[in-house]
Amino acid sequence: MKQFKGNKVVLVGNGAVGSSYAFSMINQGICDEFVIIDLDKKKVNGDVMDLNHGTIYGPSPVKVKAGEYKDCNDADLVVICAGAAQKPGETRLDLVAKNMKIFKAIVDEVMSSGFDGIFLIATNPVDILTYATMKFSGLPKERVIGSGTILDTARFRYLLSEEFDVAPQSVHANIIGEHGDSELPVWSHANIAGKPLRSIIEKDETRKHRIEEIFVQTRDAAYEIIEAKGATYYGVAMGLMRITKAILNNQDVVLTVSGYLEGEYGHEGVYIGVPALINRSGIKEIIEMPLNEEEKALFDNSVKVLKDIQAPFEVQF
Ligand code: LAC
Repeated sequence: MKQFKGNKVVLVGNGAVGSSYAFSMINQGICDEFVIIDLDKKKVNGDVMDLNHGTIYGPSPVKVKAGEYKDCNDADLVVICAGAAQKPGETRLDLVAKNMKIFKAIVDEVMSSGFDGIFLIATNPVDILTYATMKFSGLPKERVIGSGTILDTARFRYLLSEEFDVAPQSVHANIIGEHGDSELPVWSHANIAGKPLRSIIEKDETRKHRIEEIFVQTRDAAYEIIEAKGATYYGVAMGLMRITKAILNNQDVVLTVSGYLEGEYGHEGVYIGVPALINRSGIKEIIEMPLNEEEKALFDNSVKVLKDIQAPFEVQF
C-alpha cells in the first residue's frame, strides 16, 4: 500500500510575504513538510532553523527544510511569492514586465522537477501572473490558483464588522475583480448577520456614505500600509494559509481567489477574483453570483483592465 508521505508544500520566494506565509503555516500546522526555495540561501537556512525551533509549540509537527527545485517533484502545492514587490506609489500592474520574466524561469524550473500538483500564486499583479503560470506550466486551470481578492474580501469584512459591531465571520460580503484598483464590492449580495446590507442602509444616508468609504479604504489599503511600513505581508500570508488549508484539508469552501473564466460572468481567457469552491483538486467550481447592472459593468471593466495588460504578453505563451 502506498505509504502516506504527508502533505508537502514548497514555497518559492522567502521575502516578507513568503516568510510570513511560512510562519503562518508552521503556526497552524497545516502540512507535514514545508520546503523553502530562495536565491538567498543564507536567509533560507536561518529561517529554516528558526521555524524548526518553534514547531514544537505548534498544533502538529512540521518538518521545515531548505530546498531546491527538484524538491517540487512530489509536492502537493507550490506557492510562489517570489518577484519584485510594489513600491510606494506604484500600482500592482506596474510590476508586470519585471515579474513575468521571473515567473517564466521559476515555472520552468518547477515543471522540470516533474511537479504535478497545484500552484498557488501571490506575486503581483497576481491575476496576470496566475494566468502566466497556467500558460507556462501547461497544468489544468483548476490546479493554478491566485490569491486574488481573498485579502480584499478580508479587509472589507473586517471594516464592515467594525462598523456594525459584528464578528467578521458573520459579515458576508465579497470583493471581486482585479486584485487592484478596478476591484468591486458585490453590494447586492452583502449581508450583516443575515440582514441584507442594502436594507440596513437604505434610509440612512450617513451609513450609506460610510459604507462607500469602507469600500475605498478596502481598495486602497495596500497603498496606505506600503506608505507606512514599506510592504504588506501579514494579511496576504494569512490569506495564502487559508487557501492552502482549504486545498490540503479538502474543505469544499468558497473563497474569493483568482480563478480562470471560461464563460462564467460572460467572460473567458482571464484570471480574476471570483468566489470559487476550493478543495483537494484545486478550484472545483467557480461560483457565478448574479450581479446587478452596475456590478456587471464594473466587473466587465475589471476584466478589460486585466486583458489589456496581458495582451502584449500573449505571444510569450
Ligand atoms: C496587498 C498586496 C498583497 O493588497 O497586493 O496587500
